[in-house]
Amino acid sequence: MTDMPQLIDPFDRTINYLRVSVTDRCDFRCVYCMSENMTFLPKKELLTLEELDRLCSVFISQGIRKLRITGGEPLVRRGIMDFFESISRHLGNGLNELTLTTNGSQLTRFSDDLARFGVKRVNISLDTLDAQKFKDITRWGHLTKVLDGIEAAQAAGIRVKINMVALKGTNEDELEDVIRWCAEKDMDITFIEVMPMGDMGGEDRLDQYWALSDLRKRIEKTWALTDIPENTGGPARYVRISETGQKIGFITPMTHNFCESCNRVRLTCTGQLFQCLGQEKETDLRKSLRDNLGNDAPVVDAIRGAIALKPKGHDFSYDRKEVAGEMSRHMSHTGG
Ligand code: 5AD
Ligand code: SF4
Repeated sequence: MTDMPQLIDPFDRTINYLRVSVTDRCDFRCVYCMSENMTFLPKKELLTLEELDRLCSVFISQGIRKLRITGGEPLVRRGIMDFFESISRHLGNGLNELTLTTNGSQLTRFSDDLARFGVKRVNISLDTLDAQKFKDITRWGHLTKVLDGIEAAQAAGIRVKINMVALKGTNEDELEDVIRWCAEKDMDITFIEVMPMGDMGGEDRLDQYWALSDLRKRIEKTWALTDIPENTGGPARYVRISETGQKIGFITPMTHNFCESCNRVRLTCTGQLFQCLGQEKETDLRKSLRDNLGNDAPVVDAIRGAIALKPKGHDFSYDRKEVAGEMSRHMSHTGG
């Protein structure tokens, strides 16, 4: 495997991590992500499961070692277990890790299959342990279903990490409880700052913004934190709670520049490749796939061409209380 191709961008970063959104749909309507009456893409716009498999396989042949399946909610895509089963053939054979980010609502159904297809870790989004608040944030979700899903994943031997979006005035008062709950269940947790994504239909995210530097100071009143130098190439920075051994991540896209170590690209559910979450530049890989049935060489060229144009970094900022660099597309489309 020494002469396996690699994807190297213009800033000498090795791109070995692909995040793939397999649907823009979701069974929740989180207030910071979607409006309640979202219109979704027509089905024909989406890559078919066969196209997803073909494209991911080409990426793996070119140097992608880690695949994260996202959405929307990836587990509401019909037939998605067939995709997991099929793509798992690459594990240990080019692909090192197959993982997903989910809202957890379908995990009672799918955890055993996911484990069988080689998924060893999942990220589960959960912003509160209070049933009413959960309803207020997700609009359509049920807390008990997600808690059952978490249990099912753990019972199947899958390691769970919790992603919690820090929301001022909403889950602020639960900070310590959530950390303790995660420690009891042997789960790591990552806090995420609200990002300016898409048109929220009147929701004002500046009101919900809770700086993680502030959140960290709060945690330090209860526990001793040590920085972990580890860098996963993503936007998260990690600390360890000395008392519990628990790892805590902070994703602060607004306040920190993490781009210099970026190792990832993103594929939307319609086959558009984004070199960077915060830039509008995209490459239409669906067209390459559909114009070249049975011939992957042009798809390889399109991917390598896109990586060769990967920009240095993003333009987000909350400076002067204005959302600059705000993206017109939705997180559920790009696959947070
Ligand atoms: N800001 C921050 N996080 C968001 N997510 C979705 N929309 C936003 C946003 N506007 C989170 C979800 C999940 C992850 C995939 O992205 O809550 O944890
Ligand atoms: Fe669905 Fe995740 Fe968006 Fe919530 S944040 S609506 S769970 S895609």
